[in-house]
This record gives sequence, structure tokens and C-alpha cells, in this order.
Amino acid sequence: MGFVEYYSAFKAYSDINSEEYRRRIENLEPLLMKFMKTRGRVLDLACGVGGFSFLLEDLGFEVVGLDNSRFMLEKAREFAKEKESRVEFIEGDARELPFENDSFDYVLFIDSLVHFEPQDLAKVFKETARVLKPGGKFILQFTDLRALLPVLMNGQVVGAEYWVNKVLPDQEEKTVVIEFQSEKDSFRVKFNVWGKMAVELLAKLYFRKEGEEKLNEHSYFQVYGPKK
Ligand SMILES: C[S@@+](CC[C@H](N)C(=O)[O-])C[C@H]1O[C@@H](n2cnc3c(N)ncnc32)[C@H](O)[C@@H]1O
Repeated sequence: MGFVEYYSAFKAYSDINSEEYRRRIENLEPLLMKFMKTRGRVLDLACGVGGFSFLLEDLGFEVVGLDNSRFMLEKAREFAKEKESRVEFIEGDARELPFENDSFDYVLFIDSLVHFEPQDLAKVFKETARVLKPGGKFILQFTDLRALLPVLMNGQVVGAEYWVNKVLPDQEEKTVVIEFQSEKDSFRVKFNVWGKMAVELLAKLYFRKEGEEKLNEHSYFQVYGPKK
């Protein structure tokens, strides 16, 4: 049971040249441009294989990508070579950032909440507020998994090969184990269940909300400024 299988199975997260990944970039690029009008230094937090880091580099930003998965970072560095990119990819933990105070104009945190339990996400938000410059922007994109759970429970096709076979939430629905099945294999992954309201309550401790766009029925793009 694990995220390596999950990310290997879904190109939307692991292959920047795939249709699925490109679609994610196409959906977010106009919003990134709307809220990132001035160029500056960006931390792509939990950058995965780096697709958004490369996009922002191409658009003229100076980008550092950080992730704690060697598997994802190896891919990111391979893509960087392929693209002759200068993005610096760092292995590190989003809960304890290896950067000075006030060192970024933007922190991007895309599609990564499911990895974090509440006390860990609180640390991530606190660290993000610390490394952002005053007047900087925290850009957060997430899916409201709490609202999506009932939809998933009715069975759902994911990507080209897999479908959701089982949805097993814990009693309080704080976490959910999802079993993905294809014609040839199946695997389970445990996600933390974040609803929009819980995310916003936590964010409110460290940030002021500056903007929000709804991407689709269950997915949000939010912009916050640090309280400093
Ligand atoms: C769904 S991927 C999203 C990657 C990228 N932001 C994107 O949109 O393509 C979530 C990423 O969070 C990373 N991650 C999970 N826990 C982390 C932690 N404690 N510190 C840094 N990265 C973490 C995972 O390794 C994974 O690459």
C-alpha cells in the first residue's frame, strides 16, 4: 500500500509529458498568471516531478522545488535534464523547511493535502508563512475530498486504466483507504480527508485569504497572504 504505486500508476502526477499532466497544467496556468503578476522567487512545495516548477521557470520565475520523495525527485531531475532547466530540486520535508525567513515571493502547494494529518498540515502552513516575504503569496490548490467521498463510493473511473474498487474511510472519516483496480493489478492508498472548511480554518491561523476560484465541483484554487 503506498504512494509510489499510486504515482507510478497515474501519469497525471508522474509524467509531465503525458496528456493527463498537461491538462492539469492547462487548467491552472491562467489562474497562476492571474495571481502571480510580478516575477519573483517561487517555492514549489511538494513539487513532485516538477511540472509546475518548469512552467513557472518558462514564465520567467526563479524556482526551487522541494519534495520528500526520492522517487519523485529522481523523475523531476530527469525531466530537468531533458528540458535543460535550471530549477533547483531539493529533498526536504514541507513541515520543516530548510530556508531562511522571508525568502520567497510565492509558495505554491498543489494537490498535496492528502499526504498530511492535521498537526502536520499546521506545521506546513506555519513554515510556509515563515519563509514567505511580507506581501508574498501562498497559492493553494486542493480537492475537497470530504465532499468527494460519496461520489467515489459510487465507483469511479480514474485515469485510463484504473477504477475505484473500494472506499474504506475510518469511523470519523479523517482518513480513507482507496483501492484502485485495473485489469491487471490492484493497490490501496491511504489519504487524509480534507474538507474545504477544515482547510480554511487552519489556513486562517497563519494567513489572510486574498482570492479564490472554483476549478470544478470539488476542487479549489486559493490565494493567501501571510499575516506579517
Ligand atoms: C500529488 S503529488 C503533487 C505534486 C505536485 N505538486 C503536482 O501537482 O504535480 C504530492 C507530493 O507531495 C509530496 N510530499 C508528501 N509529503 C511530503 C512532505 N512531508 N514534504 C515534502 N513533500 C511531501 C509527495 O512526495 C508528492 O510528490
